[in-house]
Amino acid sequence: MKQSVKLIAGNWKMNGLAASLAEVETLKSRLAEEPAACRVALCPPATLIHRLAQTVAHSAIEVGAQDCRAETSGAFTGSVSAAMARDAGATLVILGHSERRQEFRESDALVAAKAVAAVETGLSPIVCVGETLAQRQAGQAVDVVRTQVMQSLPLVLAATPFAVAYEPVWAIGTGLTPTLEQIEEVHRAVRAAMIERLGLPAGWMPILYGGSVKPDNAAEILAVPEVGGALVGGASLIAADFLGIIRRAS
Ligand code: 13P
Repeated sequence: MKQSVKLIAGNWKMNGLAASLAEVETLKSRLAEEPAACRVALCPPATLIHRLAQTVAHSAIEVGAQDCRAETSGAFTGSVSAAMARDAGATLVILGHSERRQEFRESDALVAAKAVAAVETGLSPIVCVGETLAQRQAGQAVDVVRTQVMQSLPLVLAATPFAVAYEPVWAIGTGLTPTLEQIEEVHRAVRAAMIERLGLPAGWMPILYGGSVKPDNAAEILAVPEVGGALVGGASLIAADFLGIIRRAS
């Protein structure tokens, strides 16, 4: 396993109003006092990207969008393009989150098309994969995730920074997490699929774990081989909780 700086990214999902920027101010000043040993990113809802980017200006905190459209512009009411997210201040974009795969029926092919649009615009994708509880119980977790990696990562990623996030659907927002052995097993399979799909060195981009990461389980999860960081939902909304995770990443 190649060692690199871990990425701890917060996914606010459909949470956050202007008042939430106070948490970001707290995070920023705490990290100014004691810099993180890892990369730190926040992915607010689209409405807050611009203001959050202004809030974290001149800090090391990176800003991401939670989705983008594959098309560059046009008659797509309600959608946000990669260029719009970039223009608002994002440098990262979460793509293929299971909530979008399930609710909006996003396919691997659509996620790959979005990743192409993101890269062409200068956004670094965080491509999410993960099995459902039924798939896990049927012994299909590794196969499902491997297929998602092979089909959601466009070849253009071979020449640009990105990350994959392994988020078991049944671990998201439930307080449940896989065993450390299960996390390692899937991360190793993701790594093998990344290398097979993109070759070296792109195959060594970070693989984040996501799903009920909290300050009290972050250290052991982040120490698992092949875990290159975390994608954090609920615990990223409160600066103290998010910091508790960041401080456990070396
Ligand atoms: P929770 O950390 O709230 O389980 O959410 C994980 C997630 O979906 C991050 O994208």
